[in-house]
Amino acid sequence: MMHGCVVLVLPCLLALGVLQSRALHVEVKDDANKTCIFASLMVNFTVHYETNTNDTNVSFSLPDNNVTLDKSICGSESVGSLLWIHFGSGHSWILNFTRNATVYRGSAITFTYNLSDSHLFPDAKSNGTLTRVSNVDVPPAVPLNTMYMCNSVDVVTATDVVQTLWDVTLQAFVENGTIGSNASQCEADTPVTPVVPVSTIYPPTAAPIADEPITGNYSFSSGNMSLLATMGLQLNISQASNKTTWITINIDPNNTSVTGTCDNDTATLRLNSNNTRFLSFIFAVRKNNFYLKEVNVSLLSFLNGSAFSDGNGNLSYWETSLGSSYMCNSEQRLQVTDSFLLNTFNLRVQPFLVVDGKFSTAEECFADFDLGFLIPIAVGIALGFLVILVFISYLIGRKKSHTGYQSV
Ligand SMILES: *[C@@H]1O[C@H](CO)[C@@H](O)[C@H](O)[C@H]1NC(C)=O
Ligand SMILES: *[C@@H]1O[C@H](CO)[C@@H](O)[C@H](O)[C@H]1NC(C)=O
Ligand SMILES: *[C@@H]1O[C@H](CO)[C@@H](O)[C@H](O)[C@H]1NC(C)=O
Ligand SMILES: *[C@@H]1O[C@H](CO)[C@@H](O)[C@H](O)[C@H]1NC(C)=O
Ligand SMILES: *[C@@H]1O[C@H](CO)[C@@H](O)[C@H](O)[C@H]1NC(C)=O
Ligand SMILES: *[C@@H]1O[C@H](CO)[C@@H](O)[C@H](O)[C@H]1NC(C)=O
Ligand SMILES: *[C@@H]1O[C@H](CO)[C@@H](O)[C@H](O)[C@H]1NC(C)=O
Ligand SMILES: *[C@@H]1O[C@H](CO)[C@@H](O)[C@H](O)[C@H]1NC(C)=O
Ligand SMILES: *[C@@H]1O[C@H](CO)[C@@H](O)[C@H](O)[C@H]1NC(C)=O
Ligand SMILES: *[C@@H]1O[C@H](CO)[C@@H](O)[C@H](O)[C@H]1NC(C)=O
Ligand SMILES: *[C@@H]1O[C@H](CO)[C@@H](O)[C@H](O)[C@H]1NC(C)=O
Ligand SMILES: *[C@@H]1O[C@H](CO)[C@@H](O)[C@H](O)[C@H]1NC(C)=O
Repeated sequence: MMHGCVVLVLPCLLALGVLQSRALHVEVKDDANKTCIFASLMVNFTVHYETNTNDTNVSFSLPDNNVTLDKSICGSESVGSLLWIHFGSGHSWILNFTRNATVYRGSAITFTYNLSDSHLFPDAKSNGTLTRVSNVDVPPAVPLNTMYMCNSVDVVTATDVVQTLWDVTLQAFVENGTIGSNASQCEADTPVTPVVPVSTIYPPTAAPIADEPITGNYSFSSGNMSLLATMGLQLNISQASNKTTWITINIDPNNTSVTGTCDNDTATLRLNSNNTRFLSFIFAVRKNNFYLKEVNVSLLSFLNGSAFSDGNGNLSYWETSLGSSYMCNSEQRLQVTDSFLLNTFNLRVQPFLVVDGKFSTAEECFADFDLGFLIPIAVGIALGFLVILVFISYLIGRKKSHTGYQSV
């Protein structure tokens, strides 16, 4: 029995600050329980309606949990795909996807709202349900098996309704349940200046010259599970085949959005910064431990403007007992590939079995222990042995001389 990120109750959500608006994260599964639609998004609605005395506007957000996806359809090349989100008292939000042999796109958003929900629409004159269809291009044509990402705001209008979408990550027609490691960033998020915060030349084993990254809180909840992570992250990347030139990129938590998935025995943390398409961490479980199994990175643009993607799905870092968290305050250098090193600072992670939204006991990395303190202890132990040795010699000597005396 492997329970993943475990049940959080409301006070813990408060403690985590989850009640700030968070992206809704959902995955539609096919008959074989494989993900066919992956979506993480934020939507604000402003609805104009008639009350018993006047006309008014209300604003609310798509909730970040407690939604159902009942009527969603995985679709195929001939049948479109539907992401059908039911929320609150009889409201729904549907995104239609279509595809051909090479690309998929979102073509329409259908928003249905129930005016008899007096919580959202106080004092509404009508108690009926209204449906508004907007033709959209969200996502625009994206190659199959590629994730679409857009942090920028997109406004969709219809009669009486304005919808604001942002922090959108979408992929429909996901093949084999494997979310694409390629990503396509929307045009509005560009132009992105080439990523050259610090450009320096040093061998990967030398200390970085760059500033330490800001420690960020990258925790998130998905359904009733959550993953906790705080760390400072620095990427060291080399494109030169001889690996002599490295660039260093610090992940800025203030410009990073967090998505992810929590399962009983796998958890994914995906960071989407404005200078990276994404940086993802996949945690797995083996025996009674969890460990970091996979790290992938994809940069929007590199030194000379070209893209860079790299990763390794065969790692084995941070191994820790399930039910504990892993901590390493010291700088840690993880070799992901020949061209990609990940440095972490002030790290603490717990991908599974989070209770009450708080880190469990930490298992700390070796580097955090200052071995200097061992020297006095070693000296103390040696001295202790010496004293005992002298004492024993004394006793033996005394006994011998005593015996000797008697036998004479
Ligand atoms: C997770 O574990 C629980 C209890 O062991 C089980 O009921 C549930 O089906 C598991 N979920 C998945 C996705 O394996
Ligand atoms: C898919 O998961 C559901 C519950 O989450 C379970 O009832 C069903 O048997 C699973 N189907 C397969 C094919 O694993
Ligand atoms: C969405 O709505 C929330 C609160 O209603 C507000 O704080 C936030 O600024 C809005 N975001 C956008 C992008 O409109
Ligand atoms: C409409 O009336 C309600 C009270 O019924 C009031 O709260 C609201 O501010 C009014 N809206 C406008 C736009 O006048
Ligand atoms: C979830 O939403 C339903 C309505 O769709 C509501 O009745 C229920 O109280 C909500 N549950 C929580 C925990 O918010
Ligand atoms: C969305 O797809 C469904 C099912 O294919 C279809 O019935 C509906 O008309 C589509 N909606 C729009 C607005 O295209
Ligand atoms: C698929 O659609 C895209 C854009 O609509 C188009 O450029 C492309 O040629 C189409 N591919 C095929 C195989 O029909
Ligand atoms: C909705 O309003 C109509 C008339 O305005 C009324 O006959 C009906 O009973 C109402 N239904 C509900 C569920 O309140
Ligand atoms: C899906 O699986 C099929 C058969 O195993 C394979 O040919 C195909 O490349 C896979 N697609 C992806 C995107 O992994
Ligand atoms: C390494 O390759 C870069 C270009 O790829 C080149 O400029 C540099 O001189 C090379 N360094 C060595 C030591 O070969
Ligand atoms: C980033 O966030 C930290 C802490 O939340 C704050 O101290 C700092 O000023 C922020 N930096 C920028 C550039 O907004
Ligand atoms: C990321 O956003 C921050 C603040 O919005 C900006 O200062 C910085 O230049 C951006 N970085 C890139 C690579 O766009």
